[in-house]
Amino acid sequence: MNSRIEKTALLTTLFTLLALVTVAATGFAGCKSVNKKNAEETARYIADIIVAGRGIVASNQGLINDPQKGDKGFTPEKVAAEIKAKFKEMTGTDVADLPPESREVVQQVIDAAMMSVKMNQKRINQKGKGYKGYIPAVFGRETGQILKGRCNIFIKQTTFKYRNAYNQPDAFEKKVLKKFESPDYPKGKGYGELVGNNYRYLRPIYIKDACLKCHGEPAGSTDPAGRKREGYKVGDLRGAISVMFPVK
Ligand code: HEC
Repeated sequence: MNSRIEKTALLTTLFTLLALVTVAATGFAGCKSVNKKNAEETARYIADIIVAGRGIVASNQGLINDPQKGDKGFTPEKVAAEIKAKFKEMTGTDVADLPPESREVVQQVIDAAMMSVKMNQKRINQKGKGYKGYIPAVFGRETGQILKGRCNIFIKQTTFKYRNAYNQPDAFEKKVLKKFESPDYPKGKGYGELVGNNYRYLRPIYIKDACLKCHGEPAGSTDPAGRKREGYKVGDLRGAISVMFPVK
């Protein structure tokens, strides 16, 4: 294990503990399990929320990393409203109009996303600092870590070339990532399956122009986050959003 991975693993553990303490302090209700017949739809909605939230964090990088500005107004409430607007754009449906089971779970994901934004307010509003490291991947990981302690919904952004140990694929995720890598697999299509009492679903993520400055070429060079670039090209499979929750 290299020291970078050890360090991120330690930070991840500390973060999870902090999230759990926060969760315990605020007392969230547990989630009901989702009916088998609604599982696929619910999994797709959860992935949509993560995609929407990642997009919002991405499009606000200029604001978040503005060293001149203190208070950015990038509040949990604003982010939640933007996630809901983007979700409607993507699915044609209001979160409020989803079938009750899906709605409850989707709302839990939005609440966890808000919690991540809330926990990062100090970092985001720091004046005199440029790159702050509150990027889509961190937003997505934290949202998953918060939910894990909260609702039996597991969300991960997983990949074979993981930077953060938390994102390491398990056996099922490896199997599906391999499927996504196959040239015959339809680009962009999610894949879901019942595994025991859980529904598991992965949605592929591909490299876009905006990702290249950190994940592009040359492989091994240092990115603005101080990490090693993977050497991806536009259109390469970067990984997947992985969702798992119990069904009845
Ligand atoms: C400013 C640099 C930067 C940019 C731009 C960036 N990433 Fe990342 N990415 C990172 C860092 C740093 C991590 C590790 C985050 C963590 O510790 O959880 C990461 C992690 C990830 C992960 C989780 C898997 C892992 O490696 O642990 C995915 C998936 C991902 N990035 C996809 C993307 C995609 C897709 C884009 C473009 C839309 C993108 N990233 C743009 C820096 C960046």
